[in-house]
Amino acid sequence: GPSSISIDIDMLKEREVDRTRLQIGQLLGEGAFGHVVKATLEQPEEGDVVVAVKKLKDDAETTARTALLRETCIMLLCGDHDNVIGLKGICFRDGPLQLVLEYAEHGCLLHLLWTLRAESKTNMAVLSNKRHIFETMMVEVCSGLEHLASSRLVHRDIAARNILICGRGTAKIADFGLARDTYAVGYHRQERGNDLLPLKWMAPEGLKNAAKFTPKSDVWSFGVLLWEVAQLGRTPYPGMDGADRIYDALRNHFRLPQPRLCTEQRYRLMQQCWKFNEKNRPDATTVRKQLEADPNGFF
Ligand code: ADE
Repeated sequence: GPSSISIDIDMLKEREVDRTRLQIGQLLGEGAFGHVVKATLEQPEEGDVVVAVKKLKDDAETTARTALLRETCIMLLCGDHDNVIGLKGICFRDGPLQLVLEYAEHGCLLHLLWTLRAESKTNMAVLSNKRHIFETMMVEVCSGLEHLASSRLVHRDIAARNILICGRGTAKIADFGLARDTYAVGYHRQERGNDLLPLKWMAPEGLKNAAKFTPKSDVWSFGVLLWEVAQLGRTPYPGMDGADRIYDALRNHFRLPQPRLCTEQRYRLMQQCWKFNEKNRPDATTVRKQLEADPNGFF
């Protein structure tokens, strides 16, 4: 079945962290299955480091445990990349599974966009002043997507809420809770209720049951992410709900409209990402090169 991906137990052991080395701090985020808390990882030699710990809720059911184990496997398969949140360690002995993740001190991109929108109301210049920061972040996300594609992984939840900003402003892809290994699991069905899936970011092949996901499905979502940036964190397709409704609209050539704060060229790039047939979409490398060639596409 779709949960049949497997990881060598040695890969887990290599990254094992003794949970007593973690000083747990404040809550950073809460999801359907678990939470993410800030923590300090004691490292007697290298010095203590701030981390984010993803753990299950105390009453987590077997499905949640399986999901977190799967997420762990995906992160191990993914390997390290500058634009993917790093897996620093795994606690699996003497208690429930916990992931020790690289901490992103600036939080998620969606919140940064909301802050920028608020600032821009009293000071329009902030947009042109910060343009290059957001352009760079999008190039970085593309680099992360190139890495995922080279590892045959599909993230399936690329959206501003899942892009975290680390020190020096580096953008990193986070939350592999929905990610899949396409090599092991080329096809799969929706195993969660529609309301829990990121429908408004999903390519048509993801909206349809039992459809095939490919790295081009992430390119579609990346196009929606570009739209979120240009819209300063507004929600796509306001008022449009339900997988069937969105799917029908897309099949009838309906697309997100051109944001006021982006160039024609940047909008054309979004439209390329939203080609109905995945074969007609550019790959992440092509998208990245187009972003690099158009460094003033936003705001
Ligand atoms: N929220 C969820 N994951 C996080 C992380 N790695 N760093 C900071 N905040 C987060």
